[in-house]
Amino acid sequence: MYPDVNVPAIPTGAALGAEIRDVDLRAIDASAFDAIYRAWLDHQVLLVRDQRLTDDDLIAFSRRFGDLDYAPVQENGRRFVDGHPEIYVVSNVVENGVAIGSLGSGEAVWHTDMSYLPNPPKASVLYALEVPASGGDTIFGSMYSAWESLPGALKARVATARIKHDGTYNSGGYVREGVTPTDDPRESEGAFHPLVYAHPETGREGLYLGRRRNAYIEGLPLAESEALLGELWAFATDERLTWRHHWRAGDLVLWDNRCTMHRRDPFDQADRRIMHRTQISPSGRAAPSDV
Ligand code: SIN
Repeated sequence: MYPDVNVPAIPTGAALGAEIRDVDLRAIDASAFDAIYRAWLDHQVLLVRDQRLTDDDLIAFSRRFGDLDYAPVQENGRRFVDGHPEIYVVSNVVENGVAIGSLGSGEAVWHTDMSYLPNPPKASVLYALEVPASGGDTIFGSMYSAWESLPGALKARVATARIKHDGTYNSGGYVREGVTPTDDPRESEGAFHPLVYAHPETGREGLYLGRRRNAYIEGLPLAESEALLGELWAFATDERLTWRHHWRAGDLVLWDNRCTMHRRDPFDQADRRIMHRTQISPSGRAAPSDV
């Protein structure tokens, strides 16, 4: 732990997550940022409420963590904010017949952001502009805890395995634009990653699963891969290893894609939910010097 009297992180009490209170992210100095960075490494997910960020403010805060990746390719609709290709829009709102963002109002299944790429983003920052009265909660799971919870025999079976992260479907179940859909994970677009991942900054090991659909454990017969994945996912999505966030407008949540997964509850399509997200590249700016 890295306590900091000026920027205390209050743990959620769940398996992961902490809240940073009484801070305006537009006006933090280097030492406050360092404390936030350390709290993020410790708690995996951070919540900061009551922010009033423009898109430029969101980009400026996110850039303190590293270079930004462009918004991911999605099903249709507007993929990013005009003039800001780094800001991915997550929304169910339709204007003049065009979806202003992605993922609609349905459930977004468990996933890690953009893990179908060879170099997925290390972090994502999601900022709530408009939220529904109910539903649309985001649930985070600790993949450190998931790995630690596996029985020894299962750990031994997967310790050196590689897993394919599918790039066909997004977490809303939509086929990404330009991709030819297939439900054979051996043929689908995607990237292989180690199934057990040592976090480059904390050194802790965690499961790195991506998405369940079209996942594939390299070298195994498909049925065996499916059975093993079924076992792993049962541990990884255990509710005791999760933290649920109910959104308010002005909430900013920052998560570490290297040691967490998340999913989103559905909500009423008649409600409006508009979120702006940045994704931070694994390369680029280093962590604070003394981390
Ligand atoms: C996402 O997967 O980045 C979106 C999560 C959400 O809509 O809460």
